[in-house]
Amino acid sequence: MIFGDFFFQKKWSIRSALFWAEKVLKNFQSSRLESEVLLAAVLEVDRVFLKKNVDDFLSVAQQKKFRKFIRRRAHGEPVAYILGEKNWANLSLGVSPAVLIPRDETEVLAETIWKSPRSFSPEKILDVGTGSGNLAIFLAKKFPDAFVTALDFSPAALQIAKKNAERNSVCVNFLVSDFLQKIDDGDFFDLIVANLPYVPTKISISREVRREPKTAIFSGSDGLDHLRKFRSKLSRVQFRELWLEFLPTQVSEIKKIFAPSKIDFFPDASGQIFFARITP
Ligand SMILES: C[S@@+](CC[C@H](N)C(=O)[O-])C[C@H]1O[C@@H](n2cnc3c(N)ncnc32)[C@H](O)[C@@H]1O
Repeated sequence: MIFGDFFFQKKWSIRSALFWAEKVLKNFQSSRLESEVLLAAVLEVDRVFLKKNVDDFLSVAQQKKFRKFIRRRAHGEPVAYILGEKNWANLSLGVSPAVLIPRDETEVLAETIWKSPRSFSPEKILDVGTGSGNLAIFLAKKFPDAFVTALDFSPAALQIAKKNAERNSVCVNFLVSDFLQKIDDGDFFDLIVANLPYVPTKISISREVRREPKTAIFSGSDGLDHLRKFRSKLSRVQFRELWLEFLPTQVSEIKKIFAPSKIDFFPDASGQIFFARITP
């Protein structure tokens, strides 16, 4: 058996490896792309290299690693967890099942915050529910003179976030904190961003999303338990702009929760409202 495996694996070209992987992942929407991404990571090359060198052979170690990656993917593990990293908003972020994999729509939120015209340059920024640290690190890069604090109630998430700040060469003050518990009364922030869990518990999520921490996703029957609780604690701090992410179906409830503050809504790339800026 071992000999047989070795015999068959001995002549496995990039072309055959991708053909096999695509067949294994045939029920996945992006089977070709994901196979290429995983193989490129195994071979430590980019996808262009794969296309130009389809007749190159994999070593036995590379074959084993690639088969393992593809089998994990076939069992529903997200590509980002298999690779242990996610490229998001031009940042390379380490990820593990302790953190939510940063989403494309949140990249739009980050860009919207950064590009929004304002009469001040942010000096103090707070990221509530930082997860992998993506938003805090993005904002620390874009506003290099700002003092950025990022909090999460998950110590495991913060360990990842701290490593990501080092990996991206930015300084962020990380706190384990349930909402604003560890923030001083009366503290002032130019920008607060809170991408807290907002998925209603009744919504059924995909096999991939089920691999992510439930505490980063669900928030009661209408998905707004976290934002209501956060709102109830907000009077402890002062801020100029508060940025939120939520579902398009939650817009009218967001208006109620944050009344009477001024609220501006912003769309994601598909044109649907996913973000709000609250100004007191
Ligand atoms: C939707 S994820 C967002 C992660 C990341 N900021 C992003 O944009 O991808 C929500 C995060 O809020 C954190 N969280 C949930 N409840 C919290 C609480 N009570 N206090 C602080 N953080 C909380 C979760 O651990 C998770 O990391």
